[in-house]
Amino acid sequence: MKYKLSYSTWGKEEETAIKNIINKSQLTMSKITQVFEEKFAKKLNRKYAVMVNSGSSANLISIASLFYKRDNPLKEGDEVLVPAIAWSTTYTPLQQFGLRVKVIDCAQDSLNVDFNKLSKHITYKTKLIIGVSILGSPAELDKIEQICRKKNIYFFNDNCESLGAKIKKKETGSFGLMASHSFFFSHHISTIEGGMIVTDNYEIYCLLLSLRAHGWTRNLPKKNPLLYEKKQKLFEQYNFILPGYNVRPNEIYAAIGIQQLKKLDKMIIQRRKNLALFEKLFSNIDYLNYFKSNNFDSSFSFPLILKEKNQKLLNRIFKILKDNKIEFRLITGGCFTKHTYAKYFKLEIPEKLINAEYFHNYGFFVGNSSIDLTNQLRLLHKCLERI
Ligand SMILES: Cc1ncc(COP(=O)(O)O)c(C=O)c1O
Repeated sequence: MKYKLSYSTWGKEEETAIKNIINKSQLTMSKITQVFEEKFAKKLNRKYAVMVNSGSSANLISIASLFYKRDNPLKEGDEVLVPAIAWSTTYTPLQQFGLRVKVIDCAQDSLNVDFNKLSKHITYKTKLIIGVSILGSPAELDKIEQICRKKNIYFFNDNCESLGAKIKKKETGSFGLMASHSFFFSHHISTIEGGMIVTDNYEIYCLLLSLRAHGWTRNLPKKNPLLYEKKQKLFEQYNFILPGYNVRPNEIYAAIGIQQLKKLDKMIIQRRKNLALFEKLFSNIDYLNYFKSNNFDSSFSFPLILKEKNQKLLNRIFKILKDNKIEFRLITGGCFTKHTYAKYFKLEIPEKLINAEYFHNYGFFVGNSSIDLTNQLRLLHKCLERI
């Protein structure tokens, strides 16, 4: 491949961190995970962070936690509003918990949800809104947060694609009752697999700690709001209070995460340099659109959209990219409702998903990374300019 979707961000520091963990006897989740959680929470200006084994697991236990809140828990059949473009596992827990899913279109000039359409379709039945910032570009999370507060709706923020992005100097991960993150390869930091949830709510934090590890009480702080009967000390090791999972990370993931977090700001600076070059090069290609964010974009990758419907042209572009060994993908996961698995959901589509379907049909992305992509972007530009 001449231009890959992503490149490794690891150096000597990560290798040493892995070796140091392997030389210790403790590989399963323990103190290093806690250290990484504390550093991550601080970075996003949040009170609590819970590390898990993927962004998908972060989404799963976040949604689960809302069903076990003491006050105003979610119930099967409650309505949740989601953007039409996100990732499969942004939606999957909603199906698994029997929520009714109302799908809202993207804006015309962004891959993120159209806030006006979103607010128009909120009803008295709406109990949860999912915000997602696509490919490093901040969605209007400040407005979504405000309306959720006003209408007493839970706001869950899937920030898996946008670590390091900001709205008016505020990290996108600092919005929402909870915000999830993914540390899969190609994301802004990478721990092999891995994910993190951040929150300021102590009850949610305790629920996440229990749901992450078997639904037991063992990892809970002594003082916690999850009332359970204290068993004899011997049995406290095996005291299950919630129908939980095992989605724990391990110490190796966490040790890598600590090193990666130190590099995050620098890595985002390089991503933004690549973004600036991308925008400079692609502003003069008259058949392609790209989206300019008004906020601080952490630029996960570079989405490109045909200005007009033209399947032949798209096929030609894809062939040229393949011939020139340039990797590309459907934008994030594309439009949710166009995938087979959507048939398993209790779905409502209150308004045609015109923009999301257009982006699904006539869009694609190539990778950004925290290395200098000058040569790769020039190659891409040369290929597309010729068409
Ligand atoms: C928006 C979004 N949510 C969730 C996930 C899932 O993260 P993971 O691959 O770590 O499970 C992804 C993955 O890319 C994503 O883009």
